[in-house]
Amino acid sequence: MHHFLKETDFSLEQAQQVFALAREFKANRLNGPQPLNMQSWGLLFYKSSTRTRISFEVGVNELGGFPLVLNSQTTQIGRGETIEDTAKVMSRYLHGLVIRTYAHDIVEAFAEHADMPVINGLTDFNHPCQLYSDIFTLLERYSPEAMDIAKLRSKKVAFLGDTACNMANSWIHAAAMFGMEIALAGPEGFAPTSAIDEALQADDLPKNYHATTDPHKACQNADVIYTDVWVSMGDEAEAAERRRVMAPYQVTPELLALAKPNAYFMHCLPAHAGEEVSQAVLDSPQSIIFDEAENRLHTQKAILAKLVELHREK
Ligand code: CP
Ligand code: NVA
Repeated sequence: MHHFLKETDFSLEQAQQVFALAREFKANRLNGPQPLNMQSWGLLFYKSSTRTRISFEVGVNELGGFPLVLNSQTTQIGRGETIEDTAKVMSRYLHGLVIRTYAHDIVEAFAEHADMPVINGLTDFNHPCQLYSDIFTLLERYSPEAMDIAKLRSKKVAFLGDTACNMANSWIHAAAMFGMEIALAGPEGFAPTSAIDEALQADDLPKNYHATTDPHKACQNADVIYTDVWVSMGDEAEAAERRRVMAPYQVTPELLALAKPNAYFMHCLPAHAGEEVSQAVLDSPQSIIFDEAENRLHTQKAILAKLVELHREK
């Protein structure tokens, strides 16, 4: 069974096909193919969501399928039914499942026991759907016709703030996969963890990211400056301390000015202006945050279509 739990669950060739397909879906939003015709897909949330929930619900619908939005509390998961049994039962009704949850091993357990494709809609460890949408958003600028992933090679991404969070892990993983340079700047105690190093090793990818506590160094000559919230879902108890130690990593116009003149500012959203990024940067012409948000829809439609194709070929 082919699942999408991490960036490398598609080969480079398959990822290239996903981006080309996403471009077609975007160009022809309501008249495209409907490979999910007569299929029902579950969208299971253990955490809040605006973009992931809406873009998957709309996307499954536009591909001809029926989306069921579920959450852990109102299903028997909240009363202790095992993941193994839940995955087996859901597989008897559904054709695929998107999950947003806490520990990464929850999506892995679903994938192990499900007889249908499982898509990771964010865990504490990573957020591959967001990452693919971000890469698509960059390809629209670097290679708008061919969406050629080779054009990503050697582009420098600076990631600021909580460099141990799920988005940082996804960027580290994707940068290694697509041959990009990545520099991460965050306070001591929030450096990339051994979990991402192990994930790189498991995929035979080089560990060549640069982690620093100096935001200026990271932003120097960058093609992209990326940030994420300082307090991720599940980290609320540490909110005050995180805001205190991460204050020097706010993306400001001064930091953006250290990057290349044509650099982009990116953020997975939701944004907290005045915390991880200033309002001026969010509003600047270099900010492409709402394109990233829109592209969740087109890219995830391509991911869904690709998984259905791989499932049929099986
Ligand atoms: N970026 C993102 O995943 O947003 P949501 O939490 O709103 O789904
Ligand atoms: N790091 C953030 C991403 C939200 C899309 C979180 O996990 O809350």
